[in-house]
Amino acid sequence: SHIDWDVSAAEKGGYQHFMAKEIMEQPKAVRDTISPRIQNGKIVLDNITLTAEQIKSFSKIYIVACGSAYHVGVVAKYVLEKFTRIPVEVDVASEFRYRQPILDDKVLVLVISQSGETADTLAALREAKHLGARTLSIVNVVGSSIANDSDDVIYTWAGPEIAVATTKAYSTQLAVVYLLAIYFADKLGVLSAEEYADYVAKLQALPDKISEALENKEQIQYLASQFFNVKDVFFIGRNLDYAMSLEGSLKLKEISYIHSDAYAAGELKHGTISLVEDGTLVIALATQDALFDKMISNVKEVKARGAVVLGLTTEHNKKIEQVADYALYVPEFCEMMQPSLAVIPLQLFAYYVASMKGCDIDKPRNLAKSVTVE
Ligand code: G6P
Repeated sequence: SHIDWDVSAAEKGGYQHFMAKEIMEQPKAVRDTISPRIQNGKIVLDNITLTAEQIKSFSKIYIVACGSAYHVGVVAKYVLEKFTRIPVEVDVASEFRYRQPILDDKVLVLVISQSGETADTLAALREAKHLGARTLSIVNVVGSSIANDSDDVIYTWAGPEIAVATTKAYSTQLAVVYLLAIYFADKLGVLSAEEYADYVAKLQALPDKISEALENKEQIQYLASQFFNVKDVFFIGRNLDYAMSLEGSLKLKEISYIHSDAYAAGELKHGTISLVEDGTLVIALATQDALFDKMISNVKEVKARGAVVLGLTTEHNKKIEQVADYALYVPEFCEMMQPSLAVIPLQLFAYYVASMKGCDIDKPRNLAKSVTVE
C-alpha cells in the first residue's frame, strides 16, 4: 500500500535500497568505530584484558570467520603480519572447526562476525577455547553469542545492517583490524613514537578518505552500464589487492548473480588464464606500489588473450591507462589501509550492476543475513 511504501522509503533514508544507504553510511560508521578508541593520541581498546605480556607471548595468530568477515580476515593476515611479525593463518570457520587445529595458550584466535551468531564461527570459537587458545572477537551485535563467549571483544559500531550483502559492517571490521594491528605493534615495542603518531593520524583521517572515495559514484555507474550484461568477471590482485579481489567478487556474485571469481594474479598462468577469451571482463586491482609493475604484466597477459580490463589503482599510477581499457582511481593513502578505499568502488560496481539487472538487491535469492544453522 501507499503507507507501506512511505514507511519503507523513510527507513531507507531516501535511498532505493538499504545497501545504498549503508554504503553511504560508511564514513560515519568507521568514524564511530575509530574515534572513541583514540584518546590523547593513544589507542585505547575498551576493556580489553589482554596484557602486553600476553601479546608478546603469542607465537601465532589464527583468524576465523565466514563470508565477507573471512575476507576481512584475509586483509588482517597481511596487516597483522606486517605490524607484528607474528605468523598469521586465516581460515573459514567451517574448515577450521573440523581440522583439529593446533592450539594452546600461546595462540591467539581472532574471530570476526557481524551478527555474532554465525553457527560455524561460534563453534570454531568454542573449539578454540576448549583447546586452550586465547580468544578475541570483532563483533557488531552487542551481547551476541560470539561476543559473550570470547575472552575479549572489540565492537564495531556500524549500527544495524539490513542489506544481506554487508558493506558498512565490513568497513568497520577493517577499521578494528588496523586499530588492533597498531595497538599490538605498540605493545610489542616495534614502532617508534613518530611512526605510532603517524599511524594514529592516518586512522583519524580514514573516514574522510572513505568519503572522498565515495565521490566517484558517477564513473562507476557508467562502468556498470557498460558491463552489466557480461557472463563472467574475473578479479585479480596480489597480497592486499588479492584480499580485495575476494570481496569484490563476492559482492558482485551475491547481488547480481553474475559468475565471478577472484584469483591471486600470479596464479593466472597456472590454469585460470585458459578461461579468458575475447571480451572477458577482468578487474585488475593494483593499489600497492611495490606490486604495481607485476600487475601491469598480468594485465598485458590477459589483454593478449582478448580480455577487457578495468584497472583499479591509486591516483598517481596513471600508467595503468597504457595497458587497461578503463581506469578507476582511489585516493592516495597509507597502503596498509588502502583496502578501506579500494572496497568502495567494488561495492558500488556490484550495486549498480545489480540495480541495472533489476535484482532484489537487499534480499538476494538463497542468501540469509545471518547463518545460524550449519
Ligand atoms: C552470511 C552473510 C554474509 C556474512 C556471513 C558471515 O553469509 O550473508 O554477508 O559475511 O554470513 O556473517 P557474520 O554475521 O558472522 O559476519
